[in-house]
Amino acid sequence: MPSLHVRLTSALLAIGLVWTADATGRAQAPAAPDARIKIDLDRTIGEVDARLFGNFAEHLGRMIYGGIYEEGSPLADPDGFRKDVIDVVKPLGVSVLRWPGGNFASGYNWTDGIGPKDQRPARLELAWNDLESNRFGTDEFLRYAEKIGAEPYICLNLGLGTIDDARHWVEYTNEAKHTYWADQRRKNGRDAPYNVKLWGLGNEIDGPWQLGHKSAEEYALFALETAKAMRGVDNSIKLIASGSSNYGANADWIGWNRTVLQTLRNQIDYISLHTYIGNQDNNLERFLGRSQQIEHYIDVTAGLIRQAQSGQPNPRPITIAYDEWNVWYRAHNAEKLEEVYNFEDALAMGMFFNAFFRHADVVKMANLAQMVNVIAPIMTNKQGLFLQTTYFPLMEFAKQRGNTALNVWSSGPTYTLDPPNAAQNPNPNASRRPALPYLDVSSTYDAKNKVVFVNVLNRSKDRNIAARIEPQDLHVGPSVEVWEMNHPDLKATHTFGDDKKVRPTTRTVNVTASANGFAYTFPAHSLTILRMSVK
Ligand code: AHR
Repeated sequence: MPSLHVRLTSALLAIGLVWTADATGRAQAPAAPDARIKIDLDRTIGEVDARLFGNFAEHLGRMIYGGIYEEGSPLADPDGFRKDVIDVVKPLGVSVLRWPGGNFASGYNWTDGIGPKDQRPARLELAWNDLESNRFGTDEFLRYAEKIGAEPYICLNLGLGTIDDARHWVEYTNEAKHTYWADQRRKNGRDAPYNVKLWGLGNEIDGPWQLGHKSAEEYALFALETAKAMRGVDNSIKLIASGSSNYGANADWIGWNRTVLQTLRNQIDYISLHTYIGNQDNNLERFLGRSQQIEHYIDVTAGLIRQAQSGQPNPRPITIAYDEWNVWYRAHNAEKLEEVYNFEDALAMGMFFNAFFRHADVVKMANLAQMVNVIAPIMTNKQGLFLQTTYFPLMEFAKQRGNTALNVWSSGPTYTLDPPNAAQNPNPNASRRPALPYLDVSSTYDAKNKVVFVNVLNRSKDRNIAARIEPQDLHVGPSVEVWEMNHPDLKATHTFGDDKKVRPTTRTVNVTASANGFAYTFPAHSLTILRMSVK
């Protein structure tokens, strides 16, 4: 039962008699809130897995060569790794690094990328129509992952590759005994096994664009045999099945995931999902409403996992790896995917994390695609780098790793998503879509430090939303730390020498007057993280 003081304060708040703080920290007269956000530490979803803050490095454009790796550059260390890039990658807290693709993986022969660099073959690269020098290969990748403190995640070639390629790769990286491939690793300078745990059973094999594209049945059987052979080498590995990434009108993404899960349910640990979003029709609220679709993919896939496990005497735990996600719609092959991000794209980072945190029980890995230059938060040239707008929310959300995701109850103004071009192409089903709250909310709890984080994206283009944060049976304060990203120009971007415009602001607001609940106004089109100590 809350104390008399708390109950009295709550009552005063409810009738609007408690003075509170606004977004600038100034005292503000009471007003009826537009929205309510209830935080209850007993209503938990699951652990925010550290692997949610993964990233991805594909052999594509300038991601590897000229991005993280530039031999001979004055900015590189003796291994050829760009030191200035490492300095800005580290604060992102990249927990997992996926490599070598992506589409690239489906044509990659890993044995081309080991041994003396000058003897490695140059190959035509068919996924992105490029030339692959193979100067960056398995040992370079694994050394780089160690340098930035990330867990390596290798995506296998289940497009044009073979089962032997896959099992030999595990032997090369993980075998301690003196076998042919383990001794090749030793010859190449690495005695101790790397012990790579995360292995992807192919990339987007359901996509007709993929080299070695297969039907669901063909893929599932091939992946099953590959998994068995790899586990024969090292049974401690974790396997990620290639879930569907083809959501086209004629694609059966649910059927693909069902077949893959049914066939591989005793071998895999994750099934992957991929989503890229774009604001093609310049509609901010629709763009930031894509969480509805993302959560639909998660919910349906979680149901398919349960279906595959149903009736099994001792079902293997399977979770979701959202191992490619980002905003991507402007820069395609011709531009080598060098997307320039603006302020509204930074807001979308919050939308993705809120969706992942709300499903923290089943989404246990996520990888931003990608890390440097290619649809990335970091852009380089030969002289240096700049940080894109998306860099800052990525860095901030990563601080919530290991927390417990809370199941927040919230109410407030909503909107519905009309299909694009609704006026010209009226869709009778449009109104059947569930309404979306303007305030997109997630919350996590750091039990060790007794800190609650409330992550709020205000998706409204022009409406400030006055909310009341109502921790249940909890004392907040005396102050709340605020991290906010906001900018008057939704399209504001950064470039070389000019990357300070769109940055977060931080401040402290005093909420002592309102012990168990306080008002906070979330500005239009903003992303806010409230960090509050609780007792
Ligand atoms: O990240 C860029 C590409 O997007 C990846 O190579 C592929 O997996 C996806 O289609």
